[in-house]
Amino acid sequence: MIEDLFSMAGKICVVTGGSSGLGSYMAQGFLEAGAARVYITARSEEKLKAKAAELSSIAAGDCIALPGDLSTLEGVNALAATLCDKEPHIDVLINNAGLGLGSPIATMKAEDWDRTMDINTRSPLFLTQALLAPLKARATVDDPSRVVFISSVAASGVFPNVLAYSSSKKILEHLTPQLALALTDDFIRVNAIAPGRFYSEMTRGAWQDPEAESFKAELERIPAHRYGDMEDMAGVAIMLCSRAGAYFSGEVLNLDGGFRLRH
Ligand SMILES: NC(=O)c1ccc[n+]([C@@H]2O[C@H](COP(=O)([O-])OP(=O)(O)OC[C@H]3O[C@@H](n4cnc5c(N)ncnc54)[C@H](OP(=O)(O)O)[C@@H]3O)[C@@H](O)[C@H]2O)c1
Repeated sequence: MIEDLFSMAGKICVVTGGSSGLGSYMAQGFLEAGAARVYITARSEEKLKAKAAELSSIAAGDCIALPGDLSTLEGVNALAATLCDKEPHIDVLINNAGLGLGSPIATMKAEDWDRTMDINTRSPLFLTQALLAPLKARATVDDPSRVVFISSVAASGVFPNVLAYSSSKKILEHLTPQLALALTDDFIRVNAIAPGRFYSEMTRGAWQDPEAESFKAELERIPAHRYGDMEDMAGVAIMLCSRAGAYFSGEVLNLDGGFRLRH
């Protein structure tokens, strides 16, 4: 029973921002759990294709690269059109692509606010809207489709110099139950994961020198005494998107090793 509960066998998945970091961890997890096809998207085509080839080689399912920029509505609609051409139904949409700009209020630029909101907030909502038909296509009361937003601990704490980022993630967390209710009769479950500190390109500056005193001090402040890794992220994503998590609706799961308890 346990294997069936956490199986992704035969599922068609889409992971935005799948070329590195958290998106690639979830894509890998879905493939290792039996997904038939996992589409990954990002702007940098070379890196995306290399990641798709790497992930296709580790499991029976295919990882397929669909390059594009999700910060514009044209990019969102182009990706959705390509996906709708290829797949009559989609089981899982992970809205993960995101941007983490920081600056003090005195020097913050309006363009940075807009860029952050476009990719972190507008794109997840409107990509979900554009993929409603394939998400609804095979969803049933016993096997609902899943939409997952990737938020951040920055949504629930108060941190210096991340006004746009933390606000964008707070909006996602507010959107999660609203959209979950709006789509419940279509058998589409909407939930969010709010990660703490994970190894990725976004956080590379903090962890690339593991001997740096600043990194060691940061690990000390995290109650789990470590950053999150591939298995932490893949494990929760598989749980949410398999039979195991089918009864979650409108939830935000904090995946932060206790980070928010000290911030
Ligand atoms: N790492 C952490 O500790 C942490 C903590 C909390 C939340 N998060 C969230 O986790 C998500 C993934 O971040 P990450 O840490 O894994 O960072 P990452 O390694 O930098 O990955 C970001 C991914 O998003 C893609 N992307 C960025 N802008 C895009 C755009 N305009 N259009 C399409 N794709 C785009 C990137 O590829 P291209 O650059 O080639 O487009 C890349 O694949 C983000 O939403 C972030 O806010 C991360």
